[in-house]
Amino acid sequence: MFDLSEIARDLVVPGKGILAADESNHSADEKRLAQYGIATGPEMRRQFRDMLLETPDIEKYLSGVILFSETLDQKDDEDGLFFPESLKARGIIPGIKVDEGLEPFPNSPDESITKGLVGLAERVAEFKSRHHPGFTKWRAAITIDGDRLPTTMALVENAKRLAVYAFEVQKAGMVPIVEPEVLLDGNHSRLRSREIITKMMHALVAALEDQAVDMSSVIIKTSMALTGKDAKNAGGKTDTPEEVAEDTLAALMESVPASIPGIVFLSGGQTPDEAIANLAAITKHAKEVHAPWPLTFSYARAFQEEAIIAWAGKQENVEIAREAFTKRIKQASEAIQ
Ligand code: 13P
Repeated sequence: MFDLSEIARDLVVPGKGILAADESNHSADEKRLAQYGIATGPEMRRQFRDMLLETPDIEKYLSGVILFSETLDQKDDEDGLFFPESLKARGIIPGIKVDEGLEPFPNSPDESITKGLVGLAERVAEFKSRHHPGFTKWRAAITIDGDRLPTTMALVENAKRLAVYAFEVQKAGMVPIVEPEVLLDGNHSRLRSREIITKMMHALVAALEDQAVDMSSVIIKTSMALTGKDAKNAGGKTDTPEEVAEDTLAALMESVPASIPGIVFLSGGQTPDEAIANLAAITKHAKEVHAPWPLTFSYARAFQEEAIIAWAGKQENVEIAREAFTKRIKQASEAIQ
């Protein structure tokens, strides 16, 4: 019997973190390829993942990679291995996104709820038996709008679904990453973001306990406490990394028990420089406040964007794209040390 808590600890091993490369087919096409004038479809998505995942030496910085289901069945150019096998061969743990995206929350349609509990047990069993991923991810998205949103109902329902998911995944022998992303969109203050992260984490931890989820084998993925994008763009004050670190850790220290083996951060629309500077400040402040959990990154956009622009969908650009990607994952690895 494999030890799930060992996989969880391996994911947050010092100096390494996670690459999120689990955009759904639609998001990969629209938000990663078409947005930069690159052709779309299964073969372009495969080349896009090959550009990132087959970068030499990424195992120095990455403990795991989150994949979308389509990528599990695609092969790399170099050795013709399925991507999960290719990652494993380099000591990187493959993971899989198992939620089925967002839909409007019927009780409060300006908010979202995450789909995917129907048939979840069968789906995770199938992923597990075909490609043996070590972990999975489920993302909820939390919208802030003044004092109006989020509603407690939306937080509680998303927390419940995250917990049911986590329980099913542990039963299937994989580590669940539970991700309630507090969105950067909006004109809220950093303090409001801190307040909502705290509230969401309280709801999440209570739901995980209610579901009897094993706390030693679940990883929490969170946003940083940040001023909303619209407030920032409207000329509001930019958060300093020290402010972000203080408010992010205050939220987590108040709500997340020490039994959680690790917390990972999403980049959430920050620039690569911001996401890395904020991570470095959080790491530093975590030592000062004696945060009990290892902390690391689990970024998609902050790692991918410059590489995609350099690549532009062309084979002859793969090398410079991989340089851009390596530069960022190396900086993130340095930021957490
Ligand atoms: P970003 O780093 O782009 O926020 O993505 C992380 C992620 O996995 C979102 O679900």
